Amino acid sequence: MKTYSIYKNSAFLKWLIAALGLLVGGLSVYYTNMLVRRLADREKRQVDFFAKAQRQLALTEETSQEVSFLLMEVIQNNDLIPVILLNDRRTPISHRNVEIPKKLSEDERNSYLLKKVEEMGEDYEPIVVEIAPDVYNFIYYTNSELVRELRFAPVIQLAILAILGSIAYVVFSSSKRAEQNQVWAGLAKETAHQLGTPISSLMAWVEYFKTDENFSEEIIVELEKDISRLEMITARFSSIGSVPQLQEVNLPQTIEHVVQYLSKRVSSKVAFHIDIADRDIRANISPPLFEWVIENLCKNAVDAMNSQGNITLELKRSSGHEMIILDVSDDGKGIPPGKLKAVFKPGFTTKKRGWGLGLTLVKRIVEKYHGGKIFVKKSIPGLGTTFRIIIPVIDSEKV
Ligand SMILES: Nc1ncnc2c1ncn2[C@@H]1O[C@H](COP(=O)(O)OP(=O)(O)O)[C@@H](O)[C@H]1O
Ligand SMILES: [Mg+2]
Repeated sequence: MKTYSIYKNSAFLKWLIAALGLLVGGLSVYYTNMLVRRLADREKRQVDFFAKAQRQLALTEETSQEVSFLLMEVIQNNDLIPVILLNDRRTPISHRNVEIPKKLSEDERNSYLLKKVEEMGEDYEPIVVEIAPDVYNFIYYTNSELVRELRFAPVIQLAILAILGSIAYVVFSSSKRAEQNQVWAGLAKETAHQLGTPISSLMAWVEYFKTDENFSEEIIVELEKDISRLEMITARFSSIGSVPQLQEVNLPQTIEHVVQYLSKRVSSKVAFHIDIADRDIRANISPPLFEWVIENLCKNAVDAMNSQGNITLELKRSSGHEMIILDVSDDGKGIPPGKLKAVFKPGFTTKKRGWGLGLTLVKRIVEKYHGGKIFVKKSIPGLGTTFRIIIPVIDSEKV
């Protein structure tokens, strides 16, 4: 199975970018986590230091004035880490960096602090300080707001990365699709436009030859056929390059027309069968484009059966009558089960000289221009394939 390298490369690039994004995200999460851990460690050591100061301060009789002043400094200097000091009766005696709601009575303040103490106890074991023989104080503490907030940083970072990534993806892919559509449509229109001049010139030549007695009638008929074929191609390219004019037509006639045209141009060992339940089925279609669809499906069928076998076109209404169903079946080699969707992708081909664009075009014409659907209804390797097209019926038929 061959797929053109440009499709492969862009898929590879997508994976590479995604992998790089993940790597950068992962590294940044790891780094922030490490920072948080270090900061938390440092705060813990600070509290230890604070505990020692507290203890020294409790034994001030043995300490000189300057030392006690220094210790006070240590304690005062802690302006980040929330700390609550309990005495041996587990009553709060002092606290730092704990925000207490205003207008609380003494009792309320104490019970508020005790609630905080409980929360802190869940984070870290309290530090026990023996301030006098058999008299203990308890220092409860937890990490500063800074560290608490930093803990969320990786989550926030990841969320931002994910949001940015998805925005970039949507913008990039939609602008790419818009660009592709423009190129596709523009090219088609331009081709149609350029074909116009030589075709009218050819038509003039044919008119001229008709007046020439020496020119054989037979050649002129053939020339006229070729010119009308060229005109058909031009009509297709020009329709796909702009919003096509849909017109109400009799579908059985359209199908018969295409089959008639094709059967003369493919091997005589290919037999076409037309199975039409209702000769009155009408639909809003763009004839040049819809004929192109049928032609493409039939040509693929011919390729799949090595120019020998049966092609059946079955036209009917859905059971509820709101849809028209066209099944194109062949008894060719079939499509492997895993490839039923891939066949519609641009560049997918199993043929030596294929471009893998036929079914892409078909899908586009059916879905974009006719508001319909196309899919592989059934395919059995070695037995054959059925493509199904569904398009809406004309409103008047619904009532
Ligand atoms: N009727 C079919 N039976 C089996 N395989 C098919 C049939 N129609 C299409 N395919 C598979 O789908 C591929 C893509 O078809 P298409 O888009 O028309 O491109 P191409 O005809 O240039 O290969 C074909 O190469 C073939 O492998
Ligand atoms: Mg094809």
